[in-house]
Amino acid sequence: MTNDEFDFLCKLLKDRSGLVATRDKAYLLESRLLPVARKHGLKSLDELAAVVRARPAGDLVREIVEAMTTNESFFFRDIKPFEQFESFVLPALMKARAQRRQIRIWSAACSSGQEPYTLAMMLAEQNIALADWSIEILATDLSTEILAKAEAGLYSQFEVQRGLPIQLLVKYFKQQGDRWQIDAGLRSRVHFAQFNLLDDPASLGVFDVILCRNVLIYFDQATKAQVLDGLARVLAADGYLYLGGAETVLGVSERFQPVTDNRGIYAPASPMARPQRLAVG
Ligand SMILES: C[S@@+](CC[C@H](N)C(=O)[O-])C[C@H]1O[C@@H](n2cnc3c(N)ncnc32)[C@H](O)[C@@H]1O
Repeated sequence: MTNDEFDFLCKLLKDRSGLVATRDKAYLLESRLLPVARKHGLKSLDELAAVVRARPAGDLVREIVEAMTTNESFFFRDIKPFEQFESFVLPALMKARAQRRQIRIWSAACSSGQEPYTLAMMLAEQNIALADWSIEILATDLSTEILAKAEAGLYSQFEVQRGLPIQLLVKYFKQQGDRWQIDAGLRSRVHFAQFNLLDDPASLGVFDVILCRNVLIYFDQATKAQVLDGLARVLAADGYLYLGGAETVLGVSERFQPVTDNRGIYAPASPMARPQRLAVG
């Protein structure tokens, strides 16, 4: 691939998804995008870039961007954040929302759905305590292809063996041939939609909990700051933001502060926001 075409494709990816691809990632571009090129009857990434240059809008660009996303995910990923959700975040919100009895959760880069379904299972396990609560889970991703998989809720044997306790597999999944499908009741508790984190999330409304895990790692500092800024605008003043284990707001955004004793959870930075925060959990 010529340097010009490599730079062109990198800029396209950065503009459309935030993904930063550097020259040392040329092999990744080749391995992910050659199948896209071949599918469209093109022999090389140079030819692919030439076609996109001529027609920069449309399905081919979407296919290129989606092919470059990394969709790795699994149930109860990193476990600790979900333990904290049960022991700290949910009790704090149930106390703070005791009147309204409504909680909105956003899984902001949900990939194939394991993250929002993990939350749905945890909430279903608390069905007595939450009986008269309205809990909404919105799960979004850039990739329409991965969202279709998430919505179907169908997982391979390998996927259900990663992190999912066997008793939850038996309780909430049905075997369909060689795959497992998550219970229709749980599927209906999660609303899936396409959303690009580079866009303004204002139209999605305000959330009490946002999970934006294992996606900021693909962005540069300016894009991370821009995304965190957007998230800050739609997180309730006493809400909680989750980032992935390798991600932090420190040195990136001043809109959030870490929640003491709960690594990986952040709160809006306003000092007035939550006098009760440290008393819970
Ligand atoms: C590694 S997965 C993380 C999935 C899940 N949050 C987890 O931690 O297991 C990253 C996801 O971010 C999505 N993604 C990448 N860029 C995005 C963007 N600009 N807007 C929304 N989602 C994006 C990818 O499609 C992919 O599904």
